Amino acid sequence: MIIAPSILSADFGHLERDIKLVENEVKYLHVDVMDGHFVPNITFGPDMVAAIHKFTNLTLDCHLMIDNPADYVEQFAAAGGDILTVHIESTVHIDRVLQQIKNKGVKAGIVLNPGTSVTALSEVLPTVDQVLVMTVNPGFGGQTFIPRTLQKIAELAKLREANGYHYDIEVDGGVNETTIKQCSDAGANVFVAGSYIYGHIDPIAQIKKLEAAI
Ligand code: DX5
Ligand code: ZN
Repeated sequence: MIIAPSILSADFGHLERDIKLVENEVKYLHVDVMDGHFVPNITFGPDMVAAIHKFTNLTLDCHLMIDNPADYVEQFAAAGGDILTVHIESTVHIDRVLQQIKNKGVKAGIVLNPGTSVTALSEVLPTVDQVLVMTVNPGFGGQTFIPRTLQKIAELAKLREANGYHYDIEVDGGVNETTIKQCSDAGANVFVAGSYIYGHIDPIAQIKKLEAAI
């Protein structure tokens, strides 16, 4: 079970402080890259990943909410991204992009929006290291968990079991001490949490509450 704090809800003016704060409690850091096209919000790009990579050894789990991800894979891998996760909805050449990521020697993840069904992933499931199930519509922190996404988690866990696939199942959006348990029961093993962790005065206590819930 892996908890991945999302820096989207951290204080951008004190990013190093906020990352150092959780560093000994978790293994992953979730980095939300948004381009203002694929999603209606803008965050940061590969230079920020490189800056973060300089001061932390946490696994940088880069969630690319960008159009034309193929154009940026090289930069994010060079910047120190350990897992590059791309949306199936963001490119018509998903297989090529995933191969491109793997060729860079980093882990390749695929994301599906709440409106995309698991069947859309069937051709690439044998090759991916991680499947990220969006449990809110991407773009913003602090949204409410969409319960029907739980079925997709269960479906992915079943497919992995039946076919001997090796991917992690990650969830992202609206994760709190109630929904994390539902996701873990459904079969998820990587849990992104932004506002639940960084939206409170004591992020470490929040992480411990999540751990206790699963
Ligand atoms: C939303 C992002 C999430 C976001 C989750 O598009 O992908 O990673 O940080 O935020 P919370 O945990 O607040 O729903
Ligand atoms: Zn995310």
